[in-house]
Amino acid sequence: MPPSRRVRALIDGLSWAEKLGQLQIVFRPSLHEAKQLVRGGIGSVFWPRSSAAVNALQRVAVEETRLGIPVLVGLDVVHGHRTTAPIPLAQAATFDRDLVRELARLAAAEARSAGVTWTFSPMIDVSRDPRWGRVAEGFGEDVYITAEMGRAMVRGYHGEELAASDAIAATAKHFVAYGQPEGGRDYNTADASEHRLRNVHLEPFRAAVETGAAAVMASFNTVDGRPMHANRRLLTDVLKSEWGFDGIVVGDADGVRNLIPHRVAADLADAVRLAYGAGLDVEMGGAPSDLNPSELAPDRLDPARLDDAVGRVLALKEALGLFDDPYVPEADERTEPTHEARRLVRTAAARSAVLLKNDGTLPLRRPRRVLVTGPYAESADHLGAWTQSFAAPAGSIADELGERMPQAELRVAPGVRFLDDDASGIPLVVAAAREADIVLVFAGEPSSLTGEAASRSDLRLPGRQEELIRAIAGTGTPFVVVLETGRPLVVADWIDRAPAVIVAWHGGTEAAAAIVDILLGDAEPSGRLPMSFPRSSAQVPIHYAHELTGRPATVGGTLDETSVDIGLHGPDNVHEKYTSKYLDLELGPQFAFGHGSGYATFVHGAPRISADTVRLETLEAGAHVVVEVEVTNTSSRPGDEVVQAYLEDVVASVAPPVRRLVAFERRTVEPGATVTVSFELGTAELGFWSTDSAPARFVVEPGLFRIHIGSRLERTQAVELVVR
Ligand code: BGC
Repeated sequence: MPPSRRVRALIDGLSWAEKLGQLQIVFRPSLHEAKQLVRGGIGSVFWPRSSAAVNALQRVAVEETRLGIPVLVGLDVVHGHRTTAPIPLAQAATFDRDLVRELARLAAAEARSAGVTWTFSPMIDVSRDPRWGRVAEGFGEDVYITAEMGRAMVRGYHGEELAASDAIAATAKHFVAYGQPEGGRDYNTADASEHRLRNVHLEPFRAAVETGAAAVMASFNTVDGRPMHANRRLLTDVLKSEWGFDGIVVGDADGVRNLIPHRVAADLADAVRLAYGAGLDVEMGGAPSDLNPSELAPDRLDPARLDDAVGRVLALKEALGLFDDPYVPEADERTEPTHEARRLVRTAAARSAVLLKNDGTLPLRRPRRVLVTGPYAESADHLGAWTQSFAAPAGSIADELGERMPQAELRVAPGVRFLDDDASGIPLVVAAAREADIVLVFAGEPSSLTGEAASRSDLRLPGRQEELIRAIAGTGTPFVVVLETGRPLVVADWIDRAPAVIVAWHGGTEAAAAIVDILLGDAEPSGRLPMSFPRSSAQVPIHYAHELTGRPATVGGTLDETSVDIGLHGPDNVHEKYTSKYLDLELGPQFAFGHGSGYATFVHGAPRISADTVRLETLEAGAHVVVEVEVTNTSSRPGDEVVQAYLEDVVASVAPPVRRLVAFERRTVEPGATVTVSFELGTAELGFWSTDSAPARFVVEPGLFRIHIGSRLERTQAVELVVR
C-alpha cells in the first residue's frame, strides 16, 4: 500500500538522523532514560510500566520533538498482561480457535488500557524439538494448528481496528525456522531445505501476513548460513516482495549486534547496514545510535530503503490512531484481573489440560483421606514462561483443594523440590500415602526451565520427582499425577504405573482453580497434545507428520503405515533389520500429537465424502469436497470432542508426510446426543509448496488421497478421494 498523504509529508519533513531515530526501539530503560531517548527522536520504546508514564513519554514526543511524532510502545504481551492465560502451547492444546482469539482480545484490552500499542506475539515457530525451551511460547509441532492459532491471536490482538481502545499491533515471530535449532539449543543454527522452509516454517508466517499481522520479527538463527537479521532473500524477496507484506520487520533483541559474533559483519556499522539493507525496518537494542553518524550517512545506506522503512513505522502509528490521539485515559488502566477475565482464563486452563490416561480414578469420588504431594502442591509458579513481573499472582493448589474439599482430611507433604537432589522427604510421603485413600501428585518443571535460553538435554522430570512417583506407586494407594510443564516430557520410567495422568501445562492466573475443577469433575480435561511426548530424549526431533523413508520399519513383515506412524509396536514386533528404527527403543512417541481424552466418551460414525472423484480444474476454480462424520456422546456427562482430519497423499512428486492435519473442530456434545461435524477440503488442504522451480509454487497434484478422520491419530477411519 502506498503511504498516506500524512505519512508521505512526514517522511519528506524528517531529517536523516530523525529517520534513523524512527527505526529503533530500545530495551527497557528507566522512565528518565526513556524521556531522553524520546527527546532525541527514538520512534519506539518498551512499555514504561504505567499509562501515566506512557502519557509522559507521548507528551515529550508530541511537544518536544520537531515534528511531534508519537512513539510506539512495545511489550511482550505473550499470554496475558495482568491476567495470565495458559502458555501458548497450552492454548494450542485447546484446539479452540475462538478461545485463543478471546484470550488475545483480553490481553490486548488490558495492555492497551495501559498504553501498550505493540506486542511481540504471537510466536509461530513450528517446533518438533521439546529440548528447545521456547516450545512453551509457540503452538507446537504442527504447521496447520500453528497457522490457525497464529491467525486467531492476530485477530484477537487487532480486534475490529487497530485504533480501538482495546487493540494492539501483533508481531508474528520469529522469522524463520527458529524452532528447528540444531541439538535443540536455543539460538543455534537452523539449516532447512527450501522444501521444509516452504511447507513447514514459512507457512504459519504466510498465514499471519495474510491475516494482516502488523509486524514480523526476525529470528536469531541462521538459515542457509545467513543470520536472519541479514537474510535479504527471506526478509525482502519472500516476505515483502513475494507475499506483499507492508508492515514492519522488527529485529530481535540485539539481533543486529549479534551479526558480529555470527561472523558475517566486521563491526557494528557493517552489521547495521547489512540489516537495514536486508529488509529490517526497526532495530531492537539501539545499535544505530551507538555509531558515529558518518557511518550511516546517506551514501552508506540506501535512502529509498530507509524511506520505505520509515513509511512502514509511520503507517502503523497512523493505523493505531496515535496521530489523532496518542494519550490513554489513565483512569481506565486495568491493573487487576476482572471477574470475567479470571473466568475466561480458568475455562482456558481447563480446556487446555490433556488427560493422558485414566483408569477411572478421575474424576475423584469424594475421597476422605487425601495426600497432596509433589513440588507443585504448594507452589504458585503457574504463570509460565512469559510471566510479567506485574501480573496478578496465581494461588496454590493445596489452598484451592482446602477450600473445595471441606469434607476431606487433607494432608500436604511436597516430598521433594523441583531442582535439588534431596530425596530425604520421600519416606515421609510414602508413610502418609499408606494411610491415604488417594494421593494427588503435583509434579512438573518450574517456569524457569522453560522459555528463552532454557534448552534441556534431559526431558525427564527434574530433581527427584520420578523417584517420588515410583515410591508412591509402590504403596499400592491409588494416585493421580498432574504435570505442569512448558514442554513435552519423557515419562517412560513411571507412566505405566500411574493410574491417571493429566498434563496441565503452565495454566496461568487461575491454574489452581482449573486443576481442581478437573480433579473434581466440575470441568472436562478436554485438551489434545499439540506436540508428541517422546519415549526418550534421544528420540527428538520427533513428530507425527514425518516422511515414511524408503525403509519404513515393518511390523510382523507387513508394512502397516498406521502402526509405523504412531508406534503401537515395540522392537520385538519389528522383524526387518534394515529399516528405519532404533534397536533399543520402541517405534514412535510415547503419546502422539493429538492424543488426549476426557471423562465423556464418544463414538464416531463412518465418515462420508461428498464426491469420491473431483477434477483439478474444479478445485482450482474454488470448489470443495465435504467430508462429514457423526459424533455421539455415549456417556452420561456433557463433553467436548476434538475431531481431527488428517490428509494422506498416497503418491506425490516429493515424499509426503505420512499424515498431516488439514482440519479440526472442537464440539461440545450433550450426553446421548449426536452431532455432525463437516470439513471442506479444497486446494489449500490438498496442495503443498513445490520447490521444483523458483519461486516455489503451490500445487495440487492429481492422484489418490485418503482423508483420515477421528478422535486421534490411531483412531481414525478413512475416505478416499481421487483428483483427476
Ligand atoms: C526474544 C523475543 C522478544 C524480545 C523482546 C528477545 O530476547 O527472543 O521473543 O520479543 O526479546 O523482549
